[in-house]
Amino acid sequence: MDKLLISGGTQLNGEIRISGSKNSALPILAATLLSDEAVTIRNLPHLHDVTTMIALLRCMGVDVIIDEQLGVEIRANTIEELTAPYELVKTMRASILVLGPMLAHFGEANVSFPGGCAIGSRPVDLHLRGLEALGATIVVDEGYIRATVDGRLKGANILMEMVTVGGTENIMMAAVLADGRTVIENAAREPEIVDLAECLNAMGAKVSGHGTQTITIDGVVSLHGCDYSVMPDRIETGTYLVAAAATGGHVKLKDTRHDILEAVLVKLEEAGAIITLGDDWIELDMKGERPKAVSIKTAPYPAFPTDMQAQFTAMNAIADGTSSVTETVFENRLNQTQEMNRMGANIVIEGNTAIIVGTEQLQSAPVMASDLRASASLVIAGLVAEGDTIVDRIYHIDRGYECIEEKLQMLGANIRRLPN
Ligand code: UD1
Repeated sequence: MDKLLISGGTQLNGEIRISGSKNSALPILAATLLSDEAVTIRNLPHLHDVTTMIALLRCMGVDVIIDEQLGVEIRANTIEELTAPYELVKTMRASILVLGPMLAHFGEANVSFPGGCAIGSRPVDLHLRGLEALGATIVVDEGYIRATVDGRLKGANILMEMVTVGGTENIMMAAVLADGRTVIENAAREPEIVDLAECLNAMGAKVSGHGTQTITIDGVVSLHGCDYSVMPDRIETGTYLVAAAATGGHVKLKDTRHDILEAVLVKLEEAGAIITLGDDWIELDMKGERPKAVSIKTAPYPAFPTDMQAQFTAMNAIADGTSSVTETVFENRLNQTQEMNRMGANIVIEGNTAIIVGTEQLQSAPVMASDLRASASLVIAGLVAEGDTIVDRIYHIDRGYECIEEKLQMLGANIRRLPN
């Protein structure tokens, strides 16, 4: 298993480009199953999860042509198998996103039940309940979710019991081909939902209200092809901003958006960062100063994102002052704090809150990543620690960060991959 070797203590300085959003790319790739015509998707990040979603489409017989810039042209009318097998689903929970579009377009979908994962039980009950409300028959059989519908799905009013990003996406994708109007109440408002809705509309769907709590979908009989570019990755953007802030550095991130990062930027300013914004860039300057501790509480968008929680925990570990970090979206998502304490951090867990007393210096240690964002936080801890930190199990990081060591090297970090 590959590892990352980081020699800490260097301030991050320089410019890098932000990649396309992983969490937009995955549902948008699944949405290509809704059309018989060719759909071209651009600005896909080069990541394991994206490769897995493409492999999933291919293994079902979907025709996928990849160009040299990782733009992909997808034709779902070649599909042969309506089954997402366990071997692929077990490596990526987001595989569940093929359920809604495959059911709506082909009248049947079999998707292996995604298991639990390192950040809690993460059920998919709300995805299934929403599809049932649209008229699907769902049975769980031998570890597979088997969904069928006789004819077209039927529009319905669906009140989501809790805000779920994937659940909103699955139901929205199914509803675009349903007969009649679907209204999703208490829908997720994440920018990735908006990106997916805009791609669906570019394919001829009639989705409105995306970005608010109420999404309305007027079903159409079929969708056509389109050429769509996924939006920049707000979590990758936030991760590099926090890494720069933690090291007292000065960076400019290009090809990104600041309007979808407000909750994060406010907290970085509270930590002492000077932030300058352009149309498609964000600049952060810490003027060499140690960050001030900032307390955060995660919640669905537009509040502070759970996917940025671990990175802020790392920054707070070396910040000036005491902070609290409360995780309300997932269970068991403060795991990285134990590894940080092995590096000399002073973090105590009380329920779903981490109380962090900032220390001036972390010490290097061999550490192990337990999930994607936890790995990013350990890399940040390594960047600020004294000595050489080895981060193990970085296959997690390759699921969500394109060329992380190259990008950090471009910012002056002393980091390299140790192949197995
Ligand atoms: C997506 C993101 C992930 C992010 C999360 C929250 C992708 C590929 N992943 O994950 O990076 O951390 O949103 O912003 O976009 N829940 C249920 N029943 C359901 C569905 C969800 O109880 O049927 C619960 C989950 O266990 C969790 C909460 O709802 O506690 C939010 O999960 P959800 O928004 O669905 O996250 P994902 O879509 O899996």
